[in-house]
Amino acid sequence: MSGPSSPRRPISRISRRGLLGYAGTTGLGAAAGAGLVVAAGGDSPAPAAPATQAPGETVSPWGSHQPGVAQHPPAVTEVVALDLLDGVDREALGRLMRVWTGDVEALTAGRGAPGDPAPWLSAPAADLTITVGVGPGALGTDRFGEGPPGFAEVPAMTHDRLEERWSGGDLCVTVAGRDGTTVAHAVRRMVADAEPFARLRWRQVGSWNGTDPEGRPQTGRNLFGQVDGSGNPRPGTELFDSTVWIREGRWAGATTMVLRRIRMDLDTWDELTRDEQERSVGRRLTDGAPLTGGEELDDLDLAAESQGRLVVPRDAHSRRSHPSLHGGRRIFRKGANYTREVDTPRGARVESGLLFASYQADLSDQFVPLQRSLDELDQLNEWTTAIGSAVFVVLPGFEDGSWLGESLLT
Ligand code: HEM
Repeated sequence: MSGPSSPRRPISRISRRGLLGYAGTTGLGAAAGAGLVVAAGGDSPAPAAPATQAPGETVSPWGSHQPGVAQHPPAVTEVVALDLLDGVDREALGRLMRVWTGDVEALTAGRGAPGDPAPWLSAPAADLTITVGVGPGALGTDRFGEGPPGFAEVPAMTHDRLEERWSGGDLCVTVAGRDGTTVAHAVRRMVADAEPFARLRWRQVGSWNGTDPEGRPQTGRNLFGQVDGSGNPRPGTELFDSTVWIREGRWAGATTMVLRRIRMDLDTWDELTRDEQERSVGRRLTDGAPLTGGEELDDLDLAAESQGRLVVPRDAHSRRSHPSLHGGRRIFRKGANYTREVDTPRGARVESGLLFASYQADLSDQFVPLQRSLDELDQLNEWTTAIGSAVFVVLPGFEDGSWLGESLLT
């Protein structure tokens, strides 16, 4: 048995960001609460933050990677996709990227975007990150050029029921932060400033409970109630870097992102016994620990048997997606829970689901085989249906004085 998370590295060797990302649901979170959560760039928490919440961060937008990818998920995530207008060429894209770079720098610092009519809606220490990606339609000779190796649309899966309204897009902006007002404002500025070049295609909003009531980082739960993210490679580790970042060629510093909107049937899920729910994944609901024993961040023992049967069933989600079944291939997952009202013949209902984001250096080599294998066999297919799908290359990071995509467009 081999897996990404075994053996775990001692806390002292994990970077601060790594710790924030992978503190787990229990245990390590307490260490983070004991002073490791750093407030940067502001004397006080964002005005909207509850008194018990730990102070937020002002996340620097500069660096070799856009910081939003590895950042521990804050409460609110809004993702928008835009379509480029006809005639927007490489030169026009350069203008848009310069405008967006200025917006990202100002909004994440809590200053309001240049020319912002409502700068008061920006706040420092809001854990705000703004991450820009480009879709297949923004590539090609007169735009961003050829995409990175393996970048392609996700092939159709038999369980997919994709809707146009949640799929595709030439550009993507992911805004994440600790409160909905700051995030909504940043999204509005990015979309409004893109108007001469691109128009909104879709918008998707979700939330995540990545901190406990004392403000300590935890893994977070999806709307099935499962702890979700335990098996991820942890930011700050070599495993994370080799999983996520493109390290060579003109796209060095970039990553690829698959965003799947996955509807979850909570009504039929709720009819299962606790045992059935836990066996569908192979982890405990209370704390996310493997059914084979240990704690949340421990790897599963896929060979373990009890009374002659596998503890983690053959079609359990964690077995089917485990790196040991995929030649060690991994992805880095981030989720945001969504709900929305839908009209049905029997009246209004609430639809629930997950905005499932997967980051990997090579989309075709890492994500696609994994998704295919889950499409073939995964207990969770009974209660989950992908209704949207989109792929983007998340641009490399930029330094102070430079701009998003500069090396690709000049
Ligand atoms: C609504 C849909 C989904 C739900 C509710 C879900 C839920 C979970 C849960 C509860 C776990 C165990 C905890 C953890 O390790 O994070 C898990 C693990 C995992 N899931 Fe999903 N998942 C979903 C979709 C997907 C998809 C679409 C993929 C990839 C195509 C995927 C890939 C993985 C991987 C790689 C692991 C870690 C396996 C390991 O290393 O132990 N999941 N998922």
